Amino acid sequence: MAQQPSDRLPVEDLNREQAAAEIADLSARVAEANDNYHRHDAPEISDADYDAFKARLLALEAAFPELAQPDSPTGKVGAGPAEGFGKVAHAQRMMSLGNAFTETDVQEFLTRVRSFLNLPGDTLLEMTAEPKIDGLSLSLRYEQGELVQAATRGDGTVGENVTANARTIAEIPCRLAGTVPDILEVRGEVYMSHADFRTLNGQDAGRIFANPRNAAAGSLRQIDPAVTSRRPLRFFAYSWGELSEPLASTQLEAVERLASLGFQTNPLTRLCRSLPEMIDTWTQIEQQRATLGYDIDGVVYKVNDLSFQARLGFRSTTPRWALAHKFPAETAWTRLDRIEIQVGRTGALSPVARLEPVTVGGVVVSNATLHNEDYIAGRDNAGAPIREGRDIREGDWVKVYRAGDVIPKIADVDLSRRPADSLPFAFPSLCPQCGSEAIREPGDSVRRCTGGLICPAQAVEKLKHFVSRPAFDIDGLGARQIEMFFADPALPIREPADIFTLARRDSGNLARLKNREGFGERSVEKLFAAIEDKRRIPLARLLFALGIRHVGEVASGTLARHFGTWDALVAAIDGAAREPAFAAADDKARRTALPDSPHWAELVGIDGIGSVLVNSLVTTFSQQAEREGIDRLVAQLTVLPAQSTRAVQTEISGKTLVFTGTLERMTRAEAKARAEAMGAKVAGSVSAKTDLLIAGPGAGSKATKAADLGVAVIDEDEWLRIAGTG
Ligand code: IVH
Repeated sequence: MAQQPSDRLPVEDLNREQAAAEIADLSARVAEANDNYHRHDAPEISDADYDAFKARLLALEAAFPELAQPDSPTGKVGAGPAEGFGKVAHAQRMMSLGNAFTETDVQEFLTRVRSFLNLPGDTLLEMTAEPKIDGLSLSLRYEQGELVQAATRGDGTVGENVTANARTIAEIPCRLAGTVPDILEVRGEVYMSHADFRTLNGQDAGRIFANPRNAAAGSLRQIDPAVTSRRPLRFFAYSWGELSEPLASTQLEAVERLASLGFQTNPLTRLCRSLPEMIDTWTQIEQQRATLGYDIDGVVYKVNDLSFQARLGFRSTTPRWALAHKFPAETAWTRLDRIEIQVGRTGALSPVARLEPVTVGGVVVSNATLHNEDYIAGRDNAGAPIREGRDIREGDWVKVYRAGDVIPKIADVDLSRRPADSLPFAFPSLCPQCGSEAIREPGDSVRRCTGGLICPAQAVEKLKHFVSRPAFDIDGLGARQIEMFFADPALPIREPADIFTLARRDSGNLARLKNREGFGERSVEKLFAAIEDKRRIPLARLLFALGIRHVGEVASGTLARHFGTWDALVAAIDGAAREPAFAAADDKARRTALPDSPHWAELVGIDGIGSVLVNSLVTTFSQQAEREGIDRLVAQLTVLPAQSTRAVQTEISGKTLVFTGTLERMTRAEAKARAEAMGAKVAGSVSAKTDLLIAGPGAGSKATKAADLGVAVIDEDEWLRIAGTG
């Protein structure tokens, strides 16, 4: 049951135990939302929910500081590196920017800068002003003019190594001409233009990106650089990290120097000598926003004099010498034609406004989210009026806004233009897809279909989630193909297990499929091979892929690491299902039943796992139809164990491994994940610190170097034995 923070007790009324449980719960949700947003480029909860969860978590942490988790997601700039890329420690931290929303905020910033530098109010203080590009930041390290490393921001301290991918971007030079500092870290923004974004979304079979920023992030973080090379990414340079010698003495000249080295720099950059000039530049850039052809979300001001920048330095995550002056959300009025109800993977009924298409800040908008039935009725989750209580109806004129990354929303409604015969919107109490009852549990802001697996909408959404990138990530089987197979009476994929049945060699499906529209023999072969490849799946991915409510990627990883194997996890869940704590009606009763419920107690006792999640997990596993589906799936798979935190040491714990050559039975990413799960470190190159080299066919210089250094070398068979899957 998703409790909205505003439904919860006031922080001051909570006892320590309640606060601890809620902190665990919210930390997991916020961490997961961070993860989805930063790593997987797919926001799953609304910004408003995210803000509410985070605000509640901050309030709880302030009231109970001793309960705050050491790795609390409230203290982070972004998320840590995504699985699949090596990690890179930045030579200099990658910073974020402080925000300003009003002229007064900008004025206060200037006052702070002057007072820090002890400059009288009337001395000239030059500031640069430039667009704030809405992409993702990248740090490019050049040594002797050669691009040696490209890294994303990650959490600011450690990012992802995306060097091979960055090399494929035309606007990122691989070699710098002319006189260049020996060490030069160029920082800037990778982004995608509106035109390229539209073309890409039109051609890519599986994946529709929500916006250019997500498309840029998703394209840069492709495991295969060949994919990145086909994506139209661009790069604006605007800053730098480590330098072996200064670039210039002012910000403006330093950026000009980057331009002379072959980088694109933003042509709208201006030098300003006063607050009115800064605001004037901000206004001019905002006026050009819709026609620039790429997304910007504000203007960045920077102190021009680099010796001043050096004196001003940094706060914990932001420089004192720079400020982002954000644009207000863009809005437009249009007519709301219809309210449609979409049914999601967990059965949530989400109302969507179908609009007369309207341009909001250069982007045509024809849908907007309406959140839930309360939002439509003009009240918030606690029943207090929003929009002064004005409800939203079909046929109304509504004010739509887009704020940065998120799905457009409706801010207001114009009652003077409401048709005389309009009626309040009647939110359905039956699922529009399967006709099952849709109920709203106390404390939940969302109404949910109770049809479970019989609801086709839930089944399709579950399948799409199952094949998605952080889940089974099956090449060539995306949302589009899932819809096609789901609707096909001859080759049905109705549940995850069917995907693996489809690909069985003896099924005759290859012959059946190969003459279908869009499928040649080769592409069917490829699809089947991609499915086969995923029959071996790490425990955490399998658990996440099941799409159980509240069991996101972070929680799946936590549970996998705790239990180690599928059997141990299922034994705990099944045990908990028979215990009094699970049968108890509410959280309080559950806690009193804990002494008689050892499995339940173990589950809720795991750091970061709350009772809401455990309840959802145990409920799902004890529903017969759901359980049979899960069992049918698992019967087709080899579930790769995780290193259990309860488990004994493995033969590679604490060792440093290097993989080289081709692995034939395990992808590199999987081998790395497996090694790490077993407590080993995986390095990219052989050195005196290497303990073990795993050499597949085609191993070259690394194998020679390992031999020179006396490092032990094994082949793939031996590796599979160590990994416990040989
Ligand atoms: S300067 C130390 N300039 O905005 C300051 N950042 O919200 C480094 N960004 O992490 C940043 N356009 O990814 C700077 N013209 C610009 C920018 C810019 C976009 C991004 C950057 C930063 C984020 C902070």
